[in-house]
Amino acid sequence: MASQFDAHGRLRHLVTLQGLPRERLVELLDLADSFLTPMGTFPARNRALAGRTVANLFFEPSTRTRASFELAARRLGADVLSLDVSTSSRAKGETLLDTIYTLQAMQVDIFVIRDAQSGVPDFICEHVAPHVAVLNAGESHLNHPTQGLLDVLTMRRHRGSFGDLVVTIAGDIQHSRVARSAHHALTTLGVGELRLVAPPALAPDPAEFHGATLLDNIETGVRDADVVMCLRIQRERMEVSRNPDPQDFYREFGLTPERLALAKPDAIVMHPGPMNRDVEIAGSVADSPQAVIAEQVTHGVAVRMAVMQTVMETLHG
Ligand code: NCD
Repeated sequence: MASQFDAHGRLRHLVTLQGLPRERLVELLDLADSFLTPMGTFPARNRALAGRTVANLFFEPSTRTRASFELAARRLGADVLSLDVSTSSRAKGETLLDTIYTLQAMQVDIFVIRDAQSGVPDFICEHVAPHVAVLNAGESHLNHPTQGLLDVLTMRRHRGSFGDLVVTIAGDIQHSRVARSAHHALTTLGVGELRLVAPPALAPDPAEFHGATLLDNIETGVRDADVVMCLRIQRERMEVSRNPDPQDFYREFGLTPERLALAKPDAIVMHPGPMNRDVEIAGSVADSPQAVIAEQVTHGVAVRMAVMQTVMETLHG
């Protein structure tokens, strides 16, 4: 496995939050925080990536993550290339590495990769030139590090610290890279309690979520929580025959107003999107003042700016 750090322990690629030291994690959160400006004012901008080129390679569908990386790169002054990879050469049989080498020959500095296959970002890290960085924008069910960062940034801005925090993540945990990256970051930050709520068919292997409490009852999971994060059923990662019925899922696991009332009165509700209203979350809960879903999106741009600026500083000082 390629290291995501250079010889001095500085971040050079971002593949996973697992094993990212607390100091590095907090530095990224602080930098992202410094990029947040009040809504209705101009977004933060600088020239940290002026003259650089960022290539977005999304081999899986994405709306917000792709737009977010693109805006983040532009706000740092970079040229951005977002390839529609379903129609690109990979579909014509060119290997992934040939696509990377072709773009690298066009002097791309940062590759942002989303792929359904495990290990792809790491594989690309092993093969890019020494001056090129790779950022994981979603890897199978395993890692989604910038999502994990924006999620903990959102929690930190609302609650300040993690030691006393009760965080509940509910939904399809088994297939969720969002849950895994949140678990990595929250573990590093010393979260008070992490509860994972899923029906038995969508529950993860407990060994993958060390330190978390696995539950199959949403009421128990939500009780007195500070943060409730809902996740969609990842239908694309399971056989059709295993797909739960949406109405059954809502009845048994959906975050309804009644269930949310069991959490702390000022609990925040999060969702990475895309959201299925009245499946994992009631539409009225998604639109309620407790929901911080739009803020998560705003924080996502700031986090991606922080990550890109940080890896460029590692590579070019
Ligand atoms: C998530 C993803 O792609 O993993 N979405 C996102 O990045 N905002 C969650 C999902 O697809 O359900």
